[in-house]
Order: sequence, then C-alpha cells, then structure tokens
Amino acid sequence: MNKQRIEKVAVIGAGLMGHGIALEIAAAGYHVNLYDINEEILDTARKNIDYGLKKLVDSGKIKDDQVPKSKLLIKTSNDLGNQLKDVDLVIEAAPENVSIKQDLFKKFGELCPSHTILASNTSSLKPSLYAEHSNRPDKVIVMHYANPPHLVPLVEIVRGHKTSDATLNIAKAFIEDIGKQVIVVNKEVEGFILNRLQIALLRESLWLVENGITDIEGVDKAIKYCTGRRWAFAGIFEVWELAGWDTIGNIYREVAPTLASKADIPGPLKNLLNQGFFGSKSGRGFYKSDENWTDSVKTRIAKGLASFK
Ligand SMILES: NC(=O)c1ccc[n+]([C@@H]2O[C@H](COP(=O)([O-])OP(=O)(O)OC[C@H]3O[C@@H](n4cnc5c(N)ncnc54)[C@H](O)[C@@H]3O)[C@@H](O)[C@H]2O)c1
Repeated sequence: MNKQRIEKVAVIGAGLMGHGIALEIAAAGYHVNLYDINEEILDTARKNIDYGLKKLVDSGKIKDDQVPKSKLLIKTSNDLGNQLKDVDLVIEAAPENVSIKQDLFKKFGELCPSHTILASNTSSLKPSLYAEHSNRPDKVIVMHYANPPHLVPLVEIVRGHKTSDATLNIAKAFIEDIGKQVIVVNKEVEGFILNRLQIALLRESLWLVENGITDIEGVDKAIKYCTGRRWAFAGIFEVWELAGWDTIGNIYREVAPTLASKADIPGPLKNLLNQGFFGSKSGRGFYKSDENWTDSVKTRIAKGLASFK
C-alpha cells in the first residue's frame, strides 16, 4: 500500500549533502530524523546545520524565527532502527560506494514501515544496483540533489526498472512541496542527466589544462563569466536556438572530432587524487582551498543562488 503524503523523513548520512538535505526539509516544516554512524560526526552535522540555516536566512528563503523551529524538527541519532521506524520517506546520503548502499537498502527494507519510500541521493549509481537488496524495489527511487542541496533549486528524480508510478508521483510531489524544481529521468543511466553533462564538461576542462591551452583559472573564468552565466538564465538549447543551429552545426563539425574522449581519469586530476588533495574537505585541491577560500566561494554561490526567484 502507498501512503499518499510524506509527513516524516529520515536522512541517512549527515555529511556534506545529508545535513543540507535535512535542514531544507525541516525548514519546509517536516520532521526529519538524521542518522550518521557516530556522535562526533553528528556534532559536526549540527554545526553545519546552524551554518546552512543561516545561509537560508541570508538568502531570504526563510525568516530568522524559522531557524529555531527548523532545528527542533531535526532529531539526530546514531541509532538506525530508531531513526527509520516511523518515517514515510528515507533519503540515503551515505558515501558513493555500491556495497554501502546495498547494505543500507537491505537494512531500510527490514527496519522501515512497509509503505516507506526509499530514495538515494547517489550521484551516479543506478537504482537497480541496490533496489533489489531492499524488500520493495517498486518503492526505490533516486532523488539526486546538487551541492549545496538546500540552495540549488533542482532535484533530479530517477526511476529504476521497477519503480512504480505511485512512488514516482509521491516523490515528485514531495520535492515540489518543499519548493524545488524537478526533472524526471525516465530511464536509469550512469550519472543520470546532471553528472553526464558535468562530467563531459569536466573531461574537456581537464584536457584543456593538461594540454597547456589554459589553466584552471582560465577554465573557471570561461564558465563564470560566459557559459555558466548564460546557462543560469537559459538552457543550452535555448541559448543556441538564438545563435542559429546552422552556425552551431558548423562549429560542431570542426570541434567535435578533436574533443577529449578517453575514459581514464586525466593526468591533472589523477595527480591530485594520488596526493590526497580532495578540495575543501582536505584544505587543498586545484586551489589552496583553506577555510577562508571555502567560506568565500560558498558565500558567493549562496548569494548568487539567492538572487534567483
Ligand atoms: N558531494 C557532492 O557534491 C554530491 C552532490 C550530489 C550527490 N552526492 C552524493 O551524496 C552522497 C553523499 O555524499 P557527500 O558528499 O555528502 O559525502 P560525505 O562523505 O560528506 O558524507 C557521507 C556521510 O555518510 C556517513 N556514512 C558512512 N558510512 C555510512 C553508513 N554505513 N551508513 C550511513 N552513513 C554512513 C559518513 O560518516 C558521512 O558523514 C553520495 O552518494 C554522493 O555521490 C554528492
């Protein structure tokens, strides 16, 4: 049986994505049980929630007095059974590792009420890889947020081979109810829509850097001040509809055969990974992404996103 309305949600994994997903759902007035594997991580998550709620206030999405109310709606705990026992929807935001997700979906099947919808915030793993590990593949779906999840206005919803229409409709209605845009990915495919587009662009960006055509600042500048800036207001098809498809066709024929197309991780990124420079989370990546750098970029993104209504 499907319960038509979501009233209580569990978010499993309270890291970068999980804490942001939880705080936005609470700010929309829903009860949220937030789980992570230990109290220390949950302590960090609570601090991140305070920071994220402040960003929601700064961006005008909520008022000051909604902050304490939202915090009261979030119950943090490292007791998985307790966090799952009475929820209508689970959003899993654990590490991007298929065996962790399979193990969690098996536990969700055992510990959640039978009507509960089981969603993953995976960036790339197809629902059929873990849906069968739960006892209800018809109620398994992907709700893929983008970072920062409480500020980016889109969630892509991916249906697996066995996802029912009812599950899709309830999931979509819930995401729309918390004030977000939805795109439905009709057929499961690695990386869905967002990461197929982003990884294609990253591959070419790394090729440009590796071959000395420009540096990372050059690529970032091209995106910040041209492509990304236009794409903030109009999609690729809209922008190029204006440019003229005959011209775009000519450019395509000239450029496409020379584009990066290898599946291996390109050199500049491989070097970074080998050195353990993972970006802000380790204080260094392509940039020296220390606390000041991270705060200033996060603030810039939050301000920019807030300027869209
Ligand atoms: N980072 C992004 O920009 C981004 C964007 C969209 C989607 N995602 C996806 O969201 C998910 C989480 O990514 P993240 O960036 O928040 O990672 P993260 O490492 O910041 O957070 C993952 C959290 O899961 C917890 N965890 C570890 N094992 C667990 C388990 N067995 N059960 C429950 N929790 C466990 C960790 O303690 C950690 O707090 C991944 O699937 C990722 O692909 C990430």
